[in-house]
Amino acid sequence: MKEAAALFFITMNAEFDVTGITIETKRLILRPWKITDLKDFYAYASVPDVGERAGWKHHESVEKSNEILKLFIEEKKTFAIISKKNNRAIGSLGIELYGNEDKLTEFANLKGREIGYVLSKDYWGQGLMPEAVKAVTDYLFNTLDYDFVLCGHFDKNTQSARVQDKCGFKPYRKLVFDTRMGTKESGILRLLLNPNKDIKLVFSHPETLISAI
Ligand SMILES: CC(C)(COP(=O)(O)OP(=O)(O)OC[C@H]1O[C@@H](n2cnc3c(N)ncnc32)[C@H](O)[C@@H]1OP(=O)(O)O)[C@@H](O)C(=O)NCCC(=O)NCCS
Repeated sequence: MKEAAALFFITMNAEFDVTGITIETKRLILRPWKITDLKDFYAYASVPDVGERAGWKHHESVEKSNEILKLFIEEKKTFAIISKKNNRAIGSLGIELYGNEDKLTEFANLKGREIGYVLSKDYWGQGLMPEAVKAVTDYLFNTLDYDFVLCGHFDKNTQSARVQDKCGFKPYRKLVFDTRMGTKESGILRLLLNPNKDIKLVFSHPETLISAI
């Protein structure tokens, strides 16, 4: 019986392809990354304590930035965040595949992804990331008809927690995240449901649940 059930398991990570998408806000343009963004990307990704807060080591060489930039372009799921003031790439926002798809059965038959973001340290504290996140979640809900968006942060990352508060994400699970540096960090996974839909979730795994939304 278990095997039969597994055959009918429906995955919940929605389709996403950033190709051809441009999202404009008051101060920003979000568009696919280009190879010509390398200089801007390295400029912010090489600053210590920026990537580390998102689980990756700051780039110690321009070659490393080039390698990751090529991945962004290949994988077609990450926006470059462009400042309208100077036309420079000042951050990134990825429409990531969320993990534990088999465990989070509350999302069975629903469409969603997890977002992740980083902003150049030179631009912190101006409300730019909330502006980008709101525009992207509006696009995912209104244009792509997603049902939900997840976003996580490490416990110590109060700045990212504030971004998620401001964008309406509610704390939903307490989890331990694997970082790209091979370490583990305890943190919070937050959830935003499409406000245009009446979605009722039946939550799995009560041991990690903070609150049912
Ligand atoms: C998290 C991050 C994207 C926030 O972006 P932002 O555009 O600066 O967001 P906001 O301007 O809304 O600031 C959020 C909070 O950070 C705090 N903050 C702002 N500037 C700060 C600074 N220079 N130093 C310390 N804290 C600061 C404030 O408490 C602010 O909340 P408030 O508006 O209620 O006062 C940015 O700090 C960043 O890129 N950090 C490194 C990568 C990262 O953490 N990514 C997220 C992984 S989950």
